[in-house]
Amino acid sequence: MLIAQLTDTHITVPENGNGDCYVKLEALRKCVSAINKLNTAPDVVIHTGDLVHNGSDEEYRLTKLIMDELRAPYLITPGNRDSVTALIRNFTLHSYQNADTAFLQYATSVLDYRLIASDTSTENNNLGFLDFQRLAHLDNLLNEKPERSTVIFMHHPPINLSNSEPLKHEYESYGMVRNFSEIIDRHPQVVAILCGHIHRSLTGWINATPLVVMPPLSKSLNRDPASYSSTPNIAFYLHTISTKASVDTEVITVN
Ligand SMILES: [Fe+2]
Repeated sequence: MLIAQLTDTHITVPENGNGDCYVKLEALRKCVSAINKLNTAPDVVIHTGDLVHNGSDEEYRLTKLIMDELRAPYLITPGNRDSVTALIRNFTLHSYQNADTAFLQYATSVLDYRLIASDTSTENNNLGFLDFQRLAHLDNLLNEKPERSTVIFMHHPPINLSNSEPLKHEYESYGMVRNFSEIIDRHPQVVAILCGHIHRSLTGWINATPLVVMPPLSKSLNRDPASYSSTPNIAFYLHTISTKASVDTEVITVN
């Protein structure tokens, strides 16, 4: 399966007077056009969150206008800058609802694979959030089709980001990271986990499952001084996924 990934587009509307809004809009427009021109079309395009910067309807309308130009189907998971309710309202997405909360967590099939969007966003702060309710919902989704190779895509990378003590992570508590890992451990059908959020590239593992973190589509938002000078102005990821828990990621530079 071929997956094109976009992340952290942080679209703002020109009326906000934000200086980099045109750079970010151009990055998304050019990226959509480049994906449409690929020799081999992706089976699906995913956006791993922070589609927009302020969660407004206006920003989502503008973003959707551009993303609807994609010829391949596209899927979305929310980031900390997104508003789940505004996302659902503007993109007519399915939501998982209960009495007092709503989160955008769902599974869909592409070819012989399953894709699961895991919602790590919270309106409380910018940190990742995976409480027992969301984790139980994720566990249930995975239990539905244990034989089907599955890719999980989510905004906050659910791993320890430090090589030494103390632990560094992007979640409200490290327990959330640990509990997610425990679920992955029980579901060997998860062949890849794709993320964004930290505004730099990173690869890692959760148990035996590869994890890939994509930097923002536009270099203007990249936060990695070590690779900044060699980062293309606009680039997206193209993942070739196999059933053997391997992901081959190509960085596609957009001119
Ligand atoms: Fe983020």
